[in-house]
Amino acid sequence: MIEQLQKYKEELEKVAVMSAEEVEQLRIKFLGQKGILKDLFGAFKSVPNEQKKEFGRQLNELKNLAQEKISDLKSAVSDQEEEDGSINDLTLPGNYKELGARHPISLVRQEIIDIFAGIGFSISEGPEVEDDWHNFTALNFPEEHPARDMQDTFFVENKNGEEDLVLRTHTSSVQVRIMEAGNPPIRTISPGKVFRNEAISARSHCIFHQVEGLYIDKGVSFADLMQTLQYFASELFGPKAKIRMRPSYFPFTEPSAEVDVWWGLENESDYRITKGTGWLEIMGCGMVDPNVLINCGIDPNEYSGYAFGMGIERIAMNRYGIDDIRMFFENDIRFLRQFKSAF
Ligand code: PHE
Repeated sequence: MIEQLQKYKEELEKVAVMSAEEVEQLRIKFLGQKGILKDLFGAFKSVPNEQKKEFGRQLNELKNLAQEKISDLKSAVSDQEEEDGSINDLTLPGNYKELGARHPISLVRQEIIDIFAGIGFSISEGPEVEDDWHNFTALNFPEEHPARDMQDTFFVENKNGEEDLVLRTHTSSVQVRIMEAGNPPIRTISPGKVFRNEAISARSHCIFHQVEGLYIDKGVSFADLMQTLQYFASELFGPKAKIRMRPSYFPFTEPSAEVDVWWGLENESDYRITKGTGWLEIMGCGMVDPNVLINCGIDPNEYSGYAFGMGIERIAMNRYGIDDIRMFFENDIRFLRQFKSAF
C-alpha cells in the first residue's frame, strides 16, 4: 500500500504544463468524489495497525501535494489565457486607449523640415544655453547693438565668471557652430527653441521656436535664395503662393530682406491676419555677411552663402487660425485635442 502511495506522489511530481481540460481530468482523478484519495482514505481502516501511522502521514502528504499541484496548474493555465488574450468572455469591455495628438508646433516644424530635407538640407542642432560668441559676436553684432541689451536677452549667471552665457535668442548660433566645424558646401537647417526677454502677449512670447537655414558654397547668389524661398512657400502654402522681399537689416546678412507671402485679401479674417495688406510676413533672410564667414574660418573670396530664419509659431497661427500665441504653451487639453486628425 505504501509503495502505491509513493507511485502516486511520483506521478504528481512529474506533471508539467497542461491544458485546462487536462488539469480538470487530473483533479477528478485525484481529488474527485470517486478519486484516488477518496479510495485511499477509505482503505485506511484496513491498513494493519503498525503501519497506520506511516500510511496516514504519507497519505496526508499525497493529499497536500495533489491540492498544491492542481492549484498551481490552474493558475498557470489562467495566466496563459491572459497572455494569449484568449479569455472566453467576449462581452467584457475592451481596453480603450485614447490616442494622443502631436503638438501644432511639432506638426508645422516637421512640415518645414520635410520641405528642406527634400531639397538636400541636413538638420542641425545646438545648445540652448549659448556663449556670447556664438549667439552674437561671430554673427557680427557690434558691441553696443541693442539686441544684446537686457531688454531682449536672458543672461545666464556663469559661476566661473569667465564669459557671458545667454539663452540663445535665435538658432543662427547653431549655424556658427556648423560653419566653424566643417568645410563648405554647407546646406543645413536648424530648428529649435529660442528665448527673448519680451513681455508675454497674444502676439509675442519669451519662448518660441525657429527654423533657420544656411547654404554656403562657391557662387551662391541672391537669386538662389529667392528661388529656394519661393519653392518653400509654394510647398507650404500651396502652388499659387507668391513671395515678395522687402529690404531689411540684420547684422549677419548683407543685403538683408524680410519675406512676405501673399495671403489674400478676400474676407475679414484676411484683413485681420495681414493687417489689411494681403501680405504675411514669414521670415528674415539675406546673404551671409563676409565678416561672419571670416569669423567662422571660411574665406569670403572663395565662398558665399545665404541664410534665412522663421518663427514656427507665426506660421502655425496662420495655418490653424490661432490668434493667441500663449495657447501653444498652456497645454490646455481642449486646445491640443483639436490637432488629433492633423497627422
Ligand atoms: N536670426 C534672425 C532672427 O532671429 C533671423 C534671420 C536668420 C534673418 C538668417 C536673416 C538671416 O530674427
